[in-house]
Amino acid sequence: MATNGKTVIIKIKRQDNPNSKPYWEEFELPYRPGMNVTSSLMDIAANPVTKQGKATTPVTYDSNCLEEVCGSCAMLINDRARMACSALIDKLGQPIRLEPFSKFPVVRDLSVDRSVLFENLKKVKAWVPTDGTYDLGSGPRQSAEQQELNYPLSRCISCCCCMEACPQFNDKTGFVGAAAISQVRLFNNHPTGKALKIERLKALMGDGGIQECGYAQNCVEVCPKDIPLTKSIADVGGQVMWQAVKDLFRS
Ligand code: SF4
Ligand code: SF4
Ligand code: FES
Repeated sequence: MATNGKTVIIKIKRQDNPNSKPYWEEFELPYRPGMNVTSSLMDIAANPVTKQGKATTPVTYDSNCLEEVCGSCAMLINDRARMACSALIDKLGQPIRLEPFSKFPVVRDLSVDRSVLFENLKKVKAWVPTDGTYDLGSGPRQSAEQQELNYPLSRCISCCCCMEACPQFNDKTGFVGAAAISQVRLFNNHPTGKALKIERLKALMGDGGIQECGYAQNCVEVCPKDIPLTKSIADVGGQVMWQAVKDLFRS
């Protein structure tokens, strides 16, 4: 229900395809209590007409869960990397500016290709090895203390906000980013996952590895799941250093 003629102004940076030039469009929507950025994009899709009255196409964006769990709706909202589904209109300064992430290839409008994160997770083997032709059973138990430490790390939703905000995440460094490093901490802590610990640590040595981190802490500021990323970076940095020392003495 619209509230007494009150409106919301949203400026959106659009791009028709991965190779075309971006352009801005402005929309004015009737205000409703409880609106968020995703519901505003749905309103635009239902009536794709700009503030100036020009008919346009619905804006492309990703979304799925609508409750900050799937990680798909990340974008720049008023210059900050965050999730559109949990960004309440009432808490945003207007005009609201929506842009696709700047460090990931644009697919269309606000939708970007974030497959680099999944490639980086593969690089660091961010999984528990369970392959086998026989029943492996339920695996070793984790203590309550281990669970307390690991649960926050397991909350990563692969949104890539931490990578977008990181000054070191760029083509020049090839830095894997805070999310992949934090997953190394999680899986190295896991009683079965630690079987791949050395391979993970070696994957973080050298170009694009953990030493690229400048410890600017932007990542931890923007993580929507409050993952202790800088603690993970410090912890994994120590593990990588020990592994490098051990490798030196073995060689
Ligand atoms: S601490 Fe800074 S440099 Fe390191 S991953 Fe986080 S944002 Fe990037
Ligand atoms: S660590 Fe946080 S910001 Fe980074 S991908 Fe995971 S949930 Fe998103
Ligand atoms: S739609 Fe799933 S996190 Fe926003």
